[in-house]
Amino acid sequence: MTENLEKFLNRVSESAAQSTLVKMTLSKPAQKHDELRNIYVKPVLIKEKRLFNFTYHYERRDEVKNYDVEQMLDVLKGMIPDRFLNAVLFTVSDDVTLLISSKGKATIQIKKVQECREQSLEHDKQKVRLINPANPWWCQLGLTTREGKITADMQHKFKQIYKYAEIVESLVKPMKFDGTVHIADMGAGKGYLTFALYELLTQRLHLDVDIKGVEIRPDLVLKINEIIKSSGLKGLEFVKSSIEAFQPEKLDVLIALHACDTATDDAIAKGIRAGAELIVCAPCCHKQIRQEMERSGKVDAITRYGIFMERQAVMITDTIRALMMEYYGYKTQVMEFIEMEHTPKNVLLVGRKTDKTPDRLMISKAIGDLKRQYGIQKHYLETIL
Ligand SMILES: C[S@@+](CC[C@H](N)C(=O)[O-])C[C@H]1O[C@@H](n2cnc3c(N)ncnc32)[C@H](O)[C@@H]1O
Repeated sequence: MTENLEKFLNRVSESAAQSTLVKMTLSKPAQKHDELRNIYVKPVLIKEKRLFNFTYHYERRDEVKNYDVEQMLDVLKGMIPDRFLNAVLFTVSDDVTLLISSKGKATIQIKKVQECREQSLEHDKQKVRLINPANPWWCQLGLTTREGKITADMQHKFKQIYKYAEIVESLVKPMKFDGTVHIADMGAGKGYLTFALYELLTQRLHLDVDIKGVEIRPDLVLKINEIIKSSGLKGLEFVKSSIEAFQPEKLDVLIALHACDTATDDAIAKGIRAGAELIVCAPCCHKQIRQEMERSGKVDAITRYGIFMERQAVMITDTIRALMMEYYGYKTQVMEFIEMEHTPKNVLLVGRKTDKTPDRLMISKAIGDLKRQYGIQKHYLETIL
């Protein structure tokens, strides 16, 4: 190591120890075509611990990591001069610039700042976007161009993904997890929402995850697993399985978005049986209850109109699902997923496991009354639970 590089690292170490490090940048990649363009470092306070937050700016994505002082110095030694030729350390009183020439000669310049700066410690928060379209998987999934721009025909889809991420963030943020969060996304399809979930939980909320995208179509599973592999994502995998056959070892969060007809019920049942803390599902088509209602021949002032019959069948299906979740100890909410203009399948059923004993008699009566009123023999979810 050259004398000036050592001097620079000593300055970094001192300013970290004295809490005078304001920020640091590494720039000018040693290899012209290095995907990693620069690194931005700032001090942060996470769970009362002083750490250093590194934002690695790659050509088409950002990666964020937190290190303690020792780790930070190790990373810097690995990066300068092998990956970067310029480094600037900004302390409360000085700017320390390290420049390495193409021949490997290091020079250092120290400049006093006119007005003393303040060190700002961001508390436990990193300004990482909810979903970053520049992440390479969005291009591979067909939502963005190679430059990370959302394509015109995918604008609606992206809005839906963003809204979903907002909702999931508000649901997951208050939860406490003991280590890795185990998640199953049932009927994951093309994986848009599974990747959004992965990105949100790992890059923004910094959680350790084990996400399984459960999908019955082998072609999709193969394709998505290739994207996961080429993007180097750990903790995300697609599994070729039916929802019914999937046996999670551990399940903290169950997601099922637009799983067809009774596949939503299979997913809810899996979540309840596995004792998932959170169940989030957006039901899709609702054939089973509608067929039962039609078969019974019972019509009332509402269901005598075809469109309302359809809508009523949807509401009854999902009301009984919500009640069943309550029956099994989940505090259940029904909310709008996304505005109707984007998709008519816009209802989200959210169940959070509670310790409270549910009033099962009252719930059973409510379900029974509904079924009697509309001539329904059985809701599919009842038959499998
Ligand atoms: C409408 S797509 C929804 C995809 C994704 N969850 C979303 O919301 O964008 C439903 C997916 O669930 C899969 N699927 C339907 N029934 C299933 C079952 N019983 N087991 C596993 N996958 C199923 C389908 O193959 C399809 O890819």
